[in-house]
Amino acid sequence: MGEKMKNNTAVANQMQVPQAVLDFRKQFPIFEKQVHLANNSKGALSHAVIAAHKEYLDSWMHEGAPWGLWVSKQEALRAAFAKMIGAQTHEVAVCPSATLGLATVASCFDYKKRSALAFDDFSFPSVTYLWHAQTMRGAQIRRVHADGKNEIPVEAFDHVFDERLQFLSVAHVCYKNGHRMDLPKLARRCHNVGALFVVDDYQSCGSRLLNVKEADIDVLITGTVKFLLGSAGVALMYVREELLEELHPTITGWFGQENPNDFQVERHVEAKDARRFQNGTPAIPSVYDSLAGLTLVETIGLEAIGHWIDSLTAQLTARLCEEGFVLSTPLDPAKRGPQVAIRSHDPVEAVRELARQNIIATSRDNNIRVAFHYYNTPGDIEALIDAIKKLKGLMLVKQ
Ligand SMILES: Cc1ncc(COP(=O)(O)O)c(C=O)c1O
Repeated sequence: MGEKMKNNTAVANQMQVPQAVLDFRKQFPIFEKQVHLANNSKGALSHAVIAAHKEYLDSWMHEGAPWGLWVSKQEALRAAFAKMIGAQTHEVAVCPSATLGLATVASCFDYKKRSALAFDDFSFPSVTYLWHAQTMRGAQIRRVHADGKNEIPVEAFDHVFDERLQFLSVAHVCYKNGHRMDLPKLARRCHNVGALFVVDDYQSCGSRLLNVKEADIDVLITGTVKFLLGSAGVALMYVREELLEELHPTITGWFGQENPNDFQVERHVEAKDARRFQNGTPAIPSVYDSLAGLTLVETIGLEAIGHWIDSLTAQLTARLCEEGFVLSTPLDPAKRGPQVAIRSHDPVEAVRELARQNIIATSRDNNIRVAFHYYNTPGDIEALIDAIKKLKGLMLVKQ
């Protein structure tokens, strides 16, 4: 081991782990036996979420059909998410998935007025399938590609902006390499031509502070299974209040009505607020879980979480570079989110091998992917480095 590397290892080991981190970690039973680093895919299960899930089952068992209670949990989730992103509750909808949330917004668009939509190479494919499908409704697609360094600078979007652009959709952080977009700059460019700025925040939400008003985002979608530490079945969507006047979804349902208990087959009265982007019966068990997960995140606060994740990510990237591993994630902290993607010849096997060593990671493209949360420690970094060093032949290593 080289001197510089020894020094860095020592720094990682000596780095003061805040008591709050250690306390937080204790709330996630998985760490008794494993190192959970798959937060870009699924946040760890906490005692709080287990308790919330049980609370839901108890309410069902003892009260039979307490819909009023269950809907109040959904309202609490809307309010908590709105607070987290600097929005107001009436600007938030609870949707069944990120894709369906965006599909409901897309159902409002008239491509005769503005014919183009744009997205880039780092968007999540479920969302891009939806954008491709818009061509059946008359939309024309404008694409933005990654450069030779596998990055997408703001200038790469220049050609998509004109008065025919209906909206630009980007992922805040890319699911496969952790690249992070400069949202305020893109927002400005969209608004200069009167287009909407749609952001998929799924790979970042819960890992750092994001104020939708400051970033000037029109529509933000995220889900709860990753850094928000909840369950699948819930996505949270923000729609800027000024847009409510012009956005009228044609995908709807009773939970999108002004009065869900209206029960009138003769009419459709959409909700005045962003509830209009909701549709059928909400996934109540997931609402319970996700409210508990989001509350956990809020008890620490996104500022502290963001700082801790950034410091662990910086240490990990430095250690990986020292060891000669090759990263797909930008080295510049301003250009990356919580995820670190490490090049591998056989990422699926590498992830399996790591699991045999009790380290939980995921794979995508040519990479294994890891991402920290507030419960991870510098010790996890060293555990990962030790484990990857044993994956002879599976990882790309600089000579
Ligand atoms: C950036 C991003 N967007 C969207 C999704 C999927 O969202 P959903 O399945 O809720 O539509 C994922 C899932 O990993 C994702 O990483």
